[in-house]
Amino acid sequence: MEYQDFTELDRVIDEIGNYYDHVPAAYVHSFGCQQNVNDGEKIKGVLQQAGYSLTDRAEGADLVVFNTCAVREHAQQRVYGNIGALKPLKAANPKLLIAIGGCMVQQREVVDKLKQSYPYVDVVFGVNAIDRLPGLLAQRIRAKKRVLMDPAERYDIIENLPIHRDSTFKAWLPIMYGCDNFCSYCIVPFVRGRERSRTPEDILAEFRTLVQSGYREITLLGQNVNSYGKGLEKKIDFSDLLALLAEQEGDFRLRFMTSHPKDASRKLIDTIASHEKICKNLHLPVQSGSDRILVQMNRKYDVAQYKGLIDYAKRTVPEMTFSSDVMVGFPGETEEDFEQTVQLVREVRYIQLFTFIFSKRTGTKAALLEDDTPHAAKAQRINRLIKLQEEIAVEEAAALAGRSFKVLVEGPGRQPGQLAGRLDNNLVVEFEGDAALVGSFAQVKVTGSKGIYLQGGLEAR
Ligand code: SAM
Ligand code: SF4
Ligand code: F3S
Repeated sequence: MEYQDFTELDRVIDEIGNYYDHVPAAYVHSFGCQQNVNDGEKIKGVLQQAGYSLTDRAEGADLVVFNTCAVREHAQQRVYGNIGALKPLKAANPKLLIAIGGCMVQQREVVDKLKQSYPYVDVVFGVNAIDRLPGLLAQRIRAKKRVLMDPAERYDIIENLPIHRDSTFKAWLPIMYGCDNFCSYCIVPFVRGRERSRTPEDILAEFRTLVQSGYREITLLGQNVNSYGKGLEKKIDFSDLLALLAEQEGDFRLRFMTSHPKDASRKLIDTIASHEKICKNLHLPVQSGSDRILVQMNRKYDVAQYKGLIDYAKRTVPEMTFSSDVMVGFPGETEEDFEQTVQLVREVRYIQLFTFIFSKRTGTKAALLEDDTPHAAKAQRINRLIKLQEEIAVEEAAALAGRSFKVLVEGPGRQPGQLAGRLDNNLVVEFEGDAALVGSFAQVKVTGSKGIYLQGGLEAR
């Protein structure tokens, strides 16, 4: 379905325009993962087209949109806190509109809570209803009544939504939506719905536009990119798609996330190995190093399989780096299970680890399991992992001294006059250089490291 099919846009723009006596400013804030950040960019695009300008402050805005995340209880509490903080803004400016979208509002109890306890929230819109946001705002203005969408309402993938990207040189490119994996702890399949792949034609068209517009790094997004292609008419898997994009002309590099270890294949590693434009970094969330816990998590791989794939990748692409998500304190996780996770982290030597304490999500299978590990023990486990991880990352960074790398210059470094550039392997190097280099590729010789940051100098191009 195409966004252009939305015929009421002119009327909606008039209704929104007439409500304010100046060009209204919208503040859009996204919580959660990259998929959500990309959705936030579409929300901004759709709002701009509806007549809003964009602002980076909630204070003074005419519309505040929170694009929410439900993955952990803490993430939800943060959103409620942020919504609470809008109350005085609404009191000072009764014309302020507040809209809440994203994963949280796909849960009925959240919509009920917003309805009862947050009367100043004007609009609630679901994850698949970004195209409808301007219409819902116009409806709120016209009817002078709150418009709270039912979480059960679902929509097809809408192609060609207007988009306001946050960066001019790094872009997110979703290749699929939703998730079918039902890991026992995870709320995502419930709030994002079933897995749907975009067609290779739609992806390629967006990809080409990005490359032609000067985007240098394009990250393909999906909750499990390795199951891309299911349900499409054309027979294509993720490795085929990756190769197709990597073979396009232009000065760009490709990343992707997230790979699920049960579906990541040797073919994927071979594809990375044979294409220069595919970054040599693999984010492969393991969650736990204990087979017993992996079964409980419904992850559908075991540690031996996981290590087998990592070993194959290390043999095939020696310069490849790895990162992962690890959860501690899953119900029933013993010290022994946790030690196995520590052992795995030591063996793989991840350069980056995203660590989480298990959070009980209502409606998931793991929410029904008995969880008798005290919070203090879980906190101790996560702290041990974080410390170990940092030691490994520092050693991995130090080992690169003396080598030269092509980097994408992302912005200022931590010291005045310094720039920060990202290597293909996802490590960051700081070096002296002109700010005009931001957004372009540069060749940098690594001279040493400070903690996890490489230090280096620009080389002639
Ligand atoms: N689809 C990706 C995958 O399978 O690895 C990741 C998606 S999830 C948005 C990102 C990370 O959040 C997961 O890898 C997991 O470690 C963590 N996570 C998900 N549900 C959680 C929960 N209930 N409690 C704590 N962490 C959770
Ligand atoms: Fe959640 Fe598992 Fe799907 Fe990732 S693969 S989004 S962890 S259910
Ligand atoms: Fe959060 Fe939704 Fe992403 S729950 S992590 S924003 S898919």
